[in-house]
Amino acid sequence: VDLYGAARRNSHGLNLADESVVVGLQAALGAARPPQRATSLLACGEGPGGEVTPVLDPADHRRRLGEWVALPVERVPEVVAAALGAQARWNALAVDQRAAMLERAADRLEERHAEFMRLLIREAGKTVTDAVSEVREAVDFLRYYAASARRLMAHPEVLPGPTGEHNELQLHGKGVFVCISPWNFPLAIFTGQIAAALVTGNTVIAKPAEQTNLVAFEMVRLLHACGVPRDVLQLVLGAGALGATLVADPRIAGVAFTGSVEVAQAIHRTLAARPGPIATLIAETGGQNAMIVDSSALPEQVVKDVIHSAFLSAGQRCSALRVLYLQHEIADKTLAMLRGAMRELVIGDPGLLATDIGPVIDADARTRLEAHASAIKRVGRPIEHLAVPPSCLHGTYFPPCAVEIDGIEQLRGEHFGPILHVVRYAAADVEAVVDAINATGYGLTLGVHSRIESTWRRIQARARVGNCYVNRGMTGAVVGVQPFGGEGLSGTGPKAGGPHYLLRFVTERTLTVNT
Ligand code: NAD
Ligand code: ALA
Repeated sequence: VDLYGAARRNSHGLNLADESVVVGLQAALGAARPPQRATSLLACGEGPGGEVTPVLDPADHRRRLGEWVALPVERVPEVVAAALGAQARWNALAVDQRAAMLERAADRLEERHAEFMRLLIREAGKTVTDAVSEVREAVDFLRYYAASARRLMAHPEVLPGPTGEHNELQLHGKGVFVCISPWNFPLAIFTGQIAAALVTGNTVIAKPAEQTNLVAFEMVRLLHACGVPRDVLQLVLGAGALGATLVADPRIAGVAFTGSVEVAQAIHRTLAARPGPIATLIAETGGQNAMIVDSSALPEQVVKDVIHSAFLSAGQRCSALRVLYLQHEIADKTLAMLRGAMRELVIGDPGLLATDIGPVIDADARTRLEAHASAIKRVGRPIEHLAVPPSCLHGTYFPPCAVEIDGIEQLRGEHFGPILHVVRYAAADVEAVVDAINATGYGLTLGVHSRIESTWRRIQARARVGNCYVNRGMTGAVVGVQPFGGEGLSGTGPKAGGPHYLLRFVTERTLTVNT
């Protein structure tokens, strides 16, 4: 018995150190593609015509990738009705059959990695290395949840009882799940939510972020081609209002949401206020993530990990480093090294292997980052702010920026991009530093750089965060290795890619038989 999916192996991805892999990949990524068109995919077929929005490449807005068609919100009741109608049949299917569809999808996705990578690079501005790891993560979610569901659901658990009585605990899908996802992991998180809800016997209405509908459209088509029926998984395209209309429907049993804390709170209020059964909400949200570095840390390792955690992916990871705490004694030296390392970063087209930093997702994101950078530079002490190269002026680029401030309390909310705030602290105050981090209310990731075990253990024990990383970078959690998710303002749990995730998607029923 494969108790924790131990026989399952994570995807190998692509070896970008292999010249022949890179040559093949560059050819696949560079090939011309006709513009794509994404529509909703409903039980009855393609969604009806609605407002059409062009999809432009965030690295160069002159490049039109295609368009997407919004689903009018008036169509929500019929979408929910179809999902509800399909649920009993889907839940009655053996878990093996549901799991096999996900595993087929994982295989197809691996085969079509170049096509999905191209979409991630062009539509979401992902760098090549980020696109490789995102395809891997989506594949891993599919296989991990398939293995977990087999472990949990293949047979009801027989429970002890008096002689002459049979007792068992069964797990069933809850009903219709709405899966609402963000643009920053348009394939991995989108796929992970859907896979978890489907394999446990729920039917799904998936609403991707409006910035990344092309990726979502292709992935749902792939899942349909692997056997998932169209009424069991429907894709609906639209802005936030469409998500809000879906979650207000009293027939929805659960919502799996990943995105900002503000939207999670709005969904929470809607679910509480609507009539009908009490719905499940799984919310994975943002962070005010810090790293604490003491004087025993290895400076080169610290700088490498800070660059990686704060600036790569253009800082657009929920796990990304936002506030770096440096012990006084090492602060000047570390900042000098950090400045030098920042100047080595290559800002450019995300499709080029040499590029470290691609664009931010859209003009609104850039405007918000520019406003925050100007405000914080006025109250703080600028360390470095790189410039956007002339080749990038047609895209939505915001270059990496580092600013020294007095404390994390000066920050309000999450600033979702490559802006690093630096705070100096005295060794005697390390517990007060952790308290200040806890006081933000967020609790997603925390980095610690210290060669003193008692220090990092004390910090980890005091910090209220979901994922703590010691003497390494703090992004890129791996499915089944670092189950991912936060607490407080950062999320409800359970952790994605962990052994308890599927349990939130099921309802438990017992059966007692007098034999
Ligand atoms: P967002 O909250 O703006 O949007 C997320 C999704 O919610 C989108 O599909 C959007 O259309 C939808 N939406 C917007 N308003 C809605 C409403 N009122 N009701 C229902 N749905 C609504 O987030 P984003 O900008 O797409 O993504 C970035 C955010 O996601 C950041 O805060 C980041 O930290 C967070 N995030 C968290 C995790 C995690 O695992 N904790 C992972 C990735 C991203
Ligand atoms: N799981 C993603 C990471 O760890 C968000 O960076």
